[in-house]
Amino acid sequence: MTQRCALITGGTTGLGEATARRLHDAGHTVLVTHMVGTGGASEWQQAQAAQGYTFKVYEVDVSDYDSCQEMARQIEADGHQVDILVNNAGITRDGTFRKMGKDKWDAVLRTNLDSMYNVSKPFVDGMTTRNWGRVVNISSVNGTKGQFGQTNYSAAKAGIQGFTKALALEVARKGVTVNSVSPGYAATSMVAAVDAEILEKQIVSQIPIGRLGKPEEIAATIGFLCSEDAGYITGANIAVNGGMHMC
Ligand code: CAA
Repeated sequence: MTQRCALITGGTTGLGEATARRLHDAGHTVLVTHMVGTGGASEWQQAQAAQGYTFKVYEVDVSDYDSCQEMARQIEADGHQVDILVNNAGITRDGTFRKMGKDKWDAVLRTNLDSMYNVSKPFVDGMTTRNWGRVVNISSVNGTKGQFGQTNYSAAKAGIQGFTKALALEVARKGVTVNSVSPGYAATSMVAAVDAEILEKQIVSQIPIGRLGKPEEIAATIGFLCSEDAGYITGANIAVNGGMHMC
């Protein structure tokens, strides 16, 4: 297996962390990003190292173009060429549309959708020049089916699916695949923030498999899409949602 260099945004928690570990297990060099100014990155890095996982951490704000450009310069200066990009970083600011202030709309669209441009832009040219690349964008079941209280998040996650297909067309002849993964509800801090009664009565009750997903189950799909074997899959949106929404 060829050793590649992977960059995972939001790689220090939840699905991002599980994906970082998965790609490390696959033998790749793994770089992760952590939201600038939120602290805890070096403690996380040390805890991972104690378990045999060596990650480089870059502090960046994925909603900010200049911050991403600076990160890309640093990654290059550190001698890395990013072959695998997992655009995972995302936030929720839930609330019904009636009550949703512009701040919540902007925060989610900038972090979840603008980040697709901001982070992909510095790395896709290198992939096409080298004739090999994998981009996996993390969408959501709620980008496909919509969700009460998530006009902002559903819009951004649906936008990711469109971005994925358009970019996939543009780079298909250059050895670069671009896909999205749409997780359902997984056992992460993002999902744990949903009111427990709503989670149980309105959400878990609608999952045919009858439970939340494990981050590792989502990461396994991402890992496959990043592999050599997945070279003929591009422009796809892979649902990993316990049967919650079938399409
Ligand atoms: N469908 C229809 N009506 C609903 C409803 C639903 N699913 N949920 C609530 N309502 C009704 C309520 O009964 C209430 O009706 P009345 O006004 O007649 O009493 C009305 O809608 C307003 O509801 P609330 O007062 O509860 O509204 P709120 O603003 O206080 O709460 C909310 C809204 C915080 C968004 C809450 O509904 C909620 O947490 N929903 C779940 C959001 C969710 O799934 N987030 C996912 C986060 S994790 C993630 O996003 C990861 C991923 O990719 C899957």
